[in-house]
Amino acid sequence: MTSYHLRGASPAKTRADAVVVGAWKDAKGVSLADGAVDVGSAFGRSLRPMLSTLGFTGKAGEVTRIPTGGKLSTPLLVLVGLGERPLDRAAELLAVRRGAGVAARSTANAASVALALPADDAGLVRNVLEGYLLGGYVFARYRSKDTDKPAGTVTVLSPVARRQEVAGAFADAQVVSAAVRGVRDWVNTAAGDLTPPVFAEEISKAVKGTKVKAKVLDEAALAELGCGGLMGVGGGSSAPPRLVELRYSPTSHTGPVAHLALVGKGITFDSGGLSIKTAKGMETMKCDMAGAATVVQATLAIARLGLALQVTAYACLAENMVSGSAMRPGDVLTIYGGRTVEVLNTDAEGRLVLADGLVRATEQEPDVIVDVATLTGHMVQALGGKVGAVFGDEDVVGPLVEAGRQSGEKHWRMPITQDVVDRVRGSKIADLAQHDWTRWGGGLFAAAFLREFTAERPWAHLDIAGPGFHSGAAAGHWTPGGTGFALTTLVDYARTLSARAASDA
Ligand code: BES
Ligand code: MN
Ligand code: ZN
Repeated sequence: MTSYHLRGASPAKTRADAVVVGAWKDAKGVSLADGAVDVGSAFGRSLRPMLSTLGFTGKAGEVTRIPTGGKLSTPLLVLVGLGERPLDRAAELLAVRRGAGVAARSTANAASVALALPADDAGLVRNVLEGYLLGGYVFARYRSKDTDKPAGTVTVLSPVARRQEVAGAFADAQVVSAAVRGVRDWVNTAAGDLTPPVFAEEISKAVKGTKVKAKVLDEAALAELGCGGLMGVGGGSSAPPRLVELRYSPTSHTGPVAHLALVGKGITFDSGGLSIKTAKGMETMKCDMAGAATVVQATLAIARLGLALQVTAYACLAENMVSGSAMRPGDVLTIYGGRTVEVLNTDAEGRLVLADGLVRATEQEPDVIVDVATLTGHMVQALGGKVGAVFGDEDVVGPLVEAGRQSGEKHWRMPITQDVVDRVRGSKIADLAQHDWTRWGGGLFAAAFLREFTAERPWAHLDIAGPGFHSGAAAGHWTPGGTGFALTTLVDYARTLSARAASDA
């Protein structure tokens, strides 16, 4: 077990196996980042030429290790490049978050580590610790041999360590990071080991002992309720669909609180169904339940933080497979609540399971609905692997984008245009068309389809198909596989909702 400490001590005088400092790359070469000043003076003028000899430029992701030979209380100095000094706050937070992630992997064998990265306020402290905890994430479930042991003691050094809001941010960062790691664990688990019934079990286990209540609806209950989206998509798999409904109500708060509903796409594997994907296109499709994992873990984090708002969450779980009982292109499904949908591409399955979840959510009359889904390749094309797409009402989208800026995530606003609304409503035989073969703007079409099921409540849709899964090597606070993208944004957004409720009261 690792223990985490927040201290105001000088990095030059802190005892640990390694001390980590940051460096910016600028016009003059390298400059030490905030937090490293004492280290700089302990080394004096010898540091700059030494860095230049080492070829260290301060580029993001770069690392150099220097034995201190008694100049500091730690035997080893680890310098982490933070890149070019950013001009805006969100970019600075992200640079520090990424740098801390690199630091975690660069000190993998140290028993104790001190982090002297920029940490002059609560936001920076939080990003240092989260970045470290996420960059050091290892998924060992399928390894037969032991992996690197994490450090036993991690100390974050901050000149404002004594401030209450900084200590609070430090404690919260541990809760939030644990939730992101929980998402990663589920996403990284092989689809054969995390079918809808198994995932539902895992969720039920995860909420035990917390203030979150879970209810699992199995295939019989779903058929009875008329959840035609989940039943249709799940019909091709020998592992039946599940809808897991979570509820958190704050106990310590009196007076009215905001009610947030979260709906997550939980396709445990997406083969495309009869509109089958290519072999390559299926390779990472165990990630297609990232939205569901995110809303579950966000709810758990909100409960552990004791935020003053009510949350109901819906994990829409199904496996999209091919068999004699699979849904066909041309089939008509009846979504929970009675609306009919003409299925034209069985690979556009996410919107079908989300439709059931969204209608279930509206019945609770929440103040806001946010759904999270690895929904369309179109948004990967448009925004790449690092930026999420966000659609919906400006009153929800604006605060979500801002929450992302504080917590290391970029969400980019996308529109829902009248032409896609008309196309969604243009089925020749049912109430709605699930898909049409227009090649462009497919992410917008999907969002317009989802909006049909929100009963005109304040709503936003996060399409995380790109940033939900990282196919490359570890970089910054991201490790290979599931990223947990959108979790910190949701929790920060929930914080703003609870703050708003508190100030309204
Ligand atoms: N799960 C995929 C979307 C996806 C693609 C997620 C790449 C992560 C990475 C989704 O179910 C899907 O197949 N979408 C189709 C929609 C199309 C048929 C309208 C797509 O993107 O091609
Ligand atoms: Mn699909
Ligand atoms: Zn999918």
